[in-house]
Amino acid sequence: MQPASSSSLEVLCHKRTTQEFASVWTSATRFLWLGVEIDISGALSSLSPNTVTYAVQCSCRRAVEIAGPTTTLPPTYSQNMSTTQHQPFVRQYNSSTDFEAVVHIFRETADGSLKVEPIWTIGSYLWCRPYLTLSPSTCFVIDDGCGRAVGYVLGVSDSAAFCEAWNEVYVPIIERELERLLPIDGEDGQGDPLSRRRDELVQLVRSPERAIFSSYRKQLEAWPGHLHIDILPSHQRMGFGRQLVDTMCKTIKAEGCSGLYLGMVASNDQAARFYEALGFRRLPHVLDDHASGELGRTKKGDDGGATIYFVTDL
Ligand SMILES: CC(C)(COP(=O)(O)OP(=O)(O)OC[C@H]1O[C@@H](n2cnc3c(N)ncnc32)[C@H](O)[C@@H]1OP(=O)(O)O)[C@@H](O)C(=O)NCCC(=O)NCCS
Repeated sequence: MQPASSSSLEVLCHKRTTQEFASVWTSATRFLWLGVEIDISGALSSLSPNTVTYAVQCSCRRAVEIAGPTTTLPPTYSQNMSTTQHQPFVRQYNSSTDFEAVVHIFRETADGSLKVEPIWTIGSYLWCRPYLTLSPSTCFVIDDGCGRAVGYVLGVSDSAAFCEAWNEVYVPIIERELERLLPIDGEDGQGDPLSRRRDELVQLVRSPERAIFSSYRKQLEAWPGHLHIDILPSHQRMGFGRQLVDTMCKTIKAEGCSGLYLGMVASNDQAARFYEALGFRRLPHVLDDHASGELGRTKKGDDGGATIYFVTDL
C-alpha cells in the first residue's frame, strides 16, 4: 500500500474487444474500487493491444492511498458477450452482474454448521463479501456459458494490505448492515449457542486480523496471498476448481506474490484431497500445541471447528 503522493490515478482497463472498449469508454465513467467511488472522466492517455490507460484526476484521495497510483480495473463484460458462449468457462468477477450469484454460491456450499440465520449471512460478510468489495480484480468465477456464475475463487495477493483495507474501508461499510442483523439491546437470547456463535462471527467481521490470519500471522508470513474457493455441486469434478486456482495463482504471481495459503475446516476431506492434487502442502507447523498429534491443525476456535492450513509457493 503506497502513501498518496498526489490525487492522480492511472486506471488501466483491460481491452477485450472493440465493442467492449466502446462500452467502457462511453458509459462507464464511475467505478466502485476498493469500496471507493472513482470518477474516471479523465482523458484517455494511451492504448495498447490489451489495455486502455486513463489518466484520472481522482476525486477521492483515499482511492489513491489504497489502490496505489496505478491500478487495473476488472474488465467489463457486456450482456451480449456473455450470452454468445454456451460452454462453462472461467472469467473475471463482474461486480455489476455477479454479486448475487457469488453470495448464493457461498450460501449453497457453506459448511453445514453455518446454514442457519443470521450465521449464514454473517459468514458471507467474512468469507465472501470483503473480497468482492475490496479486491474484485482478484476474484474469478465459472460462467455457466449463459452469464451466470456457478463457482468462484476469491483471493488477494497481499493479505496484510487486505487486512488494513478491511479495517479502514470494509468495516465502516458493513457496520450498518451488521446493526440490522443484531438484536436491539435487551431483546437478545439467553446466551444460547446460536447467539454466542453469532456474536463470535460478528467479532471476527470487526477484527480482520483474526478473520484473515486467526492467530497464525507469523507462521503464514512466507505465503502473503490467500484464497477461498467454492463451486456449486452441478459444476464440481469437471476441472474448474483446478482452472480457478491456476488463474488465481497466475494473477497474484503477476502482482508480485510469492506464495499463498488457505484455511479450511479440518473435516473437509474432499477439499483436502483437491488441494493435495494441486500440489498444495499442509502448513508444516503443529498449531494446536500437539493436542491432535496432527500436522497443521488448529484447536477448535471461535469460528467453529478446527482449521487446517494449506500453502503453496508461486
Ligand atoms: C473442492 C472444490 C473446490 C474442488 O473443485 P472441483 O472443480 O470439484 O475439482 P477439480 O475437478 O478441478 O479437481 C482437480 C483434482 O482434485 C482432486 N479432487 C477434486 N475433488 C475431489 C474429491 N472430491 N475427492 C478426491 N479428489 C478430488 C482430483 O485429483 C481432481 O483431479 P481429477 O478429477 O483429474 O481426478 C469443489 O469440489 C467445491 O467447491 N466443493 C464444495 C465447497 C468446498 O469444499 N470448498 C472448499 C472449501 S476449503
